[in-house]
Amino acid sequence: MDRVSIGIAAFLAVSATAAYAQQKDAAQEGIEAYREALQDGNPAELFELSGEELWKTPAGPKKASLEKCDLGLGPGVVKGAYARLPRYFADTDRVQDLESRLLTCMETLQGKDPKPYIEASFTAPPKEEMIALAAYISGQSKDDPIAVKPSHPKEQAMYDLGKRMFYYQGGPYDFACATCHGQENTRIRLQDLPYIPGPKGAAAGWGSWPAYRVSSGQMWSMQWRLNDCFRQQRFPEPVYTSDATIALSMFMAANANGAPMKTPGIKR
Ligand code: HEC
Repeated sequence: MDRVSIGIAAFLAVSATAAYAQQKDAAQEGIEAYREALQDGNPAELFELSGEELWKTPAGPKKASLEKCDLGLGPGVVKGAYARLPRYFADTDRVQDLESRLLTCMETLQGKDPKPYIEASFTAPPKEEMIALAAYISGQSKDDPIAVKPSHPKEQAMYDLGKRMFYYQGGPYDFACATCHGQENTRIRLQDLPYIPGPKGAAAGWGSWPAYRVSSGQMWSMQWRLNDCFRQQRFPEPVYTSDATIALSMFMAANANGAPMKTPGIKR
């Protein structure tokens, strides 16, 4: 090629990239405007209301409400509790996320058997209760800074396990969470895939769930979000509120420490 053709080729390459970048920006702007529009009037509010009712209504063999449940800030304190989870609880000697802690309270205060709540599918009534409760409780931490700093040895062990799991490759495609969430600025179709090991991506990923999903008209808790990513990873379905799920949550929450909680969120 002579110098002129090299120049033309280079010009074409640059303008093609510029056009592509412009298109990408327009798409990104469109998505952001759509998300903003969705923020006013998040249908998650309806789930928050029914969650609040579930929290306050006596139920189970002991005919008790959940109002004395200790989510980490003392019995009955809901405000700000979600932004500090997962955390270590001395009474169960376990690190718990919101949903596993709720199961503890339902068992101890209300005398309910956690099994049907663990085994039900995410669209079945027992899980709907969990999700409504998660919507309500997470809403009581809206805009609070995430305050999850592993300090208890069990919290540290949970964080380390979560980190190992995040990078653990396996399954038929040899995927890890990191395959899809381990680089900046990745997308699958039009979905941004947050870089979860970094503070910004962790805040986006951790800090916006539970969330209402417009595409399916469903409210999803973090446990459901994780369950679906195990599916995308072609991994076996994790047991609801198992340590594997709590470890991943601990990894995400601690990476997001300090960022504001945007819960309940709203997604495409
Ligand atoms: C095959 C790719 C893939 C793998 C592997 C994967 N994810 Fe995802 N993840 C996605 C996609 C795609 C989305 C967006 C989904 C949607 O909107 O439907 C997503 C969304 C998320 C979100 C919500 C992000 C947000 O901004 O709202 C979190 C958190 C998350 N994944 C965590 C994980 C964890 C933890 C693992 C490992 C257990 C994992 N993912 C494995 C593809 C993957």
